[in-house]
Amino acid sequence: MTKYKQNTYGDEIAEVYDQLYSEFDPACIELLAELAGPGPALELGIGTGRIALPLLNRAVPLEGIDASQAMVAKLKAKPRGAEIDVHIGSFEQFAINRRFRLVYVVFNTFFNLPGQDEQVRCFESVSKHLSSDGHFVIEVFVPDLSRYVDFQSVRLIGISDQGIRLDVAQLDPVAQHIDSRHLLVSMEGIRTYPVKLRYAWPSELDLMARTAGLRLQERWGSWSKEPFNRASTKHISVYACAD
Ligand SMILES: C[S@@+](CC[C@H](N)C(=O)[O-])C[C@H]1O[C@@H](n2cnc3c(N)ncnc32)[C@H](O)[C@@H]1O
Repeated sequence: MTKYKQNTYGDEIAEVYDQLYSEFDPACIELLAELAGPGPALELGIGTGRIALPLLNRAVPLEGIDASQAMVAKLKAKPRGAEIDVHIGSFEQFAINRRFRLVYVVFNTFFNLPGQDEQVRCFESVSKHLSSDGHFVIEVFVPDLSRYVDFQSVRLIGISDQGIRLDVAQLDPVAQHIDSRHLLVSMEGIRTYPVKLRYAWPSELDLMARTAGLRLQERWGSWSKEPFNRASTKHISVYACAD
């Protein structure tokens, strides 16, 4: 594998992404459409449009940012995909000459930013692009270090006629890094897809938001607005301008 960069995950997985992750929670589209109102909305790490296209079909005008040309090419090839303006580059720091009613980053994509500095810079960029009544929505997992034994984990994701899916990962709890590979094992052979994440607890995200002039407005345990509690495995956090 070449050196891991901001476009590596997308470039490597683009070919199979829609096969692996075609589903979405309708409540996610409902909530994002509610927060977007008349728009416009901006998706960070828009990928192949799994969330953006259903949102566009709900008449929410939107744009996206993504580092991977390969992922964006998949989006553009889909019905209505060409209608979405996508800025190719990193969502760590960006400059778009307009403000958004909604900026959102889902499916743990925020953790693709490799360190605390990059994540703080992202909050700062988002803050500069939100309208005064705007919201920033993040969907990420709650870190669960009990999954790791000797800082390693191997998880079966599924077995089907197409093959076996596994995730293998190494944990660095000091840097808060997870270095993992999705493995697809089939009669054609074994394919691996690299994923590197820098995780953060909800409290750290809230502090990043505060340093960028945002404050936590809501935190739910699911897109259906279930309460966030100690059993929650992920959170949907909604930030608004602090003033
Ligand atoms: C897990 S996929 C999510 C795609 C889409 N949001 C979805 O929910 O299906 C993460 C996406 O973020 C993009 N990405 C990762 N790091 C990025 C970065 N630093 N800047 C821009 N895009 C990035 C990847 O190329 C990929 O398309």
